[in-house]
Amino acid sequence: MELDLDAHLADAEKAAAAASTEADVRALSAEYLGKKSQLKAAKKQLGALDPDERRSAGLRLNDAIERLETLFEHRGSQLADEARRSQLEAERLDLTELLHPIERGHLHLVTQARDRLEDVFVGMGYEVAEGPEVETAWYNFEALNIPEWHPARGSFDTIFVDLGEPESVMLRSHTSPVQIRTMEVQEPPIYIVAPGRTFRTDTADATHLPAFNQIEGLVIDRGITLGDLAGTIDTFVHAFFGGEVRSRLRPSYFPFTEPSAEFDISRPDGSWLELGGCGMVHPNVLRNCGIDPDRWQGFAFGFGIDRLAVMRYQLDDIRELVNNDVRFLRQF
Ligand code: PHE
Repeated sequence: MELDLDAHLADAEKAAAAASTEADVRALSAEYLGKKSQLKAAKKQLGALDPDERRSAGLRLNDAIERLETLFEHRGSQLADEARRSQLEAERLDLTELLHPIERGHLHLVTQARDRLEDVFVGMGYEVAEGPEVETAWYNFEALNIPEWHPARGSFDTIFVDLGEPESVMLRSHTSPVQIRTMEVQEPPIYIVAPGRTFRTDTADATHLPAFNQIEGLVIDRGITLGDLAGTIDTFVHAFFGGEVRSRLRPSYFPFTEPSAEFDISRPDGSWLELGGCGMVHPNVLRNCGIDPDRWQGFAFGFGIDRLAVMRYQLDDIRELVNNDVRFLRQF
């Protein structure tokens, strides 16, 4: 036989190893095993050999053909695997990259407290109202029965805005202006709470922040008494803190309520924490909003949400609420 089978097989192996696609392998298969291949030609020449030689040459040829078939088959499926793997690699959406579990944040303590407060009052039939953080003297003071000469103006440590007449525009020093804004546009009966940011020239210390949060409450209806106010505060305190916490009213003074009171809640150690002010809405305030004090009465209250958060989460220092140290905030 002219064909050197060993050299031919070695060539085929080299070519198969060099093939980089399945198509290359198919072409090799045609070249080495197809009709025009050297092996097929060699097979045709077998007839010319004498019988003994024909047998052994035939066996060697068949063996070579089988080996080439296996070779191309293996190489073909190897390349198919590789192609599939690199396609998967290219299309991969790697969902295993997160080395740490996702850390979910949560609402700020003050936001949580405000949301809870809203829930408690909405549960008692109140609506949530809002007002601007920058106010005029009318809403922040005058309509609330605090005329310009009134000494109470000084007690509010107001931050004024450099706009218009001096001391005519300010960052609201309490949420009470929302009482006026609500009564101006809404007919009684009125049951609202108005949470929001308030500002005073206070220096931050363990119990004060210059920017803090209050929630205002206003009820205007027929035949409302101080008993309704006391009962409302008690109900809210129980709903917010749980049954053990008690509340008390202490006589006090605000120009926009008469009578006025300060209200405290009991601490676990038996002492009292001042939470806010309240009282029956002053007739002048009702009149300023076009409401007839002989037909309608009401009460109002206002207290600090940040202080409530301090109490609820037993913080030592109210400034923790604005330091925004995640190691602290994460605990709640
Ligand atoms: N606005 C008062 C304050 O900030 C609190 C208050 C609200 C008092 C409503 C009486 C009625 O101190």
